[in-house]
Amino acid sequence: MSEATHREAGAVLSQHVRAEIDRWVAKFPPERKRSAVIAALHAVQHEAGFLTQESMDAVAAYLGLLPLHVYEVASFYSMFETQPCGRHHISVCTNISCMLCGGEEILAHVERRLGIRMGESTPDGRFFLKKEEECLAACNGAPMMMVDHVYYENLTPATVDRILDEHK
Ligand code: FES
Repeated sequence: MSEATHREAGAVLSQHVRAEIDRWVAKFPPERKRSAVIAALHAVQHEAGFLTQESMDAVAAYLGLLPLHVYEVASFYSMFETQPCGRHHISVCTNISCMLCGGEEILAHVERRLGIRMGESTPDGRFFLKKEEECLAACNGAPMMMVDHVYYENLTPATVDRILDEHK
């Protein structure tokens, strides 16, 4: 990567994000920087809430990759958002184990409480309720949901309220 390209990418990515990318790049052989794309996008999204084309291009430039290599990762994984959305990302599992244990009631409770449907964000930009996810692999804790990639299990409407209140 040229010095100019590196500087341009550095201007878009925060110091924290660059440090996080550097930390992941160091885990792989020098010719395998593509392996750090998921971690890089995760760091960007964690800070900004979603991925802009500018931030994805900056990640590509910083890693010395084609933008396409970054776009394909961002569009493949459901954990990445490329449209403006709320800060805290909620995924309520309604797959089979969770459904049998009340997952759909939990989802309805979240929708009622936040006044939004799946795929929408609250007007204050605080929450984004993601579209339906496949099983999140925590079936023995059903019903469960994930908020900002943290798992919350054995949910009841009361514990959901407490969890939502904790996310400002
Ligand atoms: S069905 Fe919900 S975590 Fe597996």
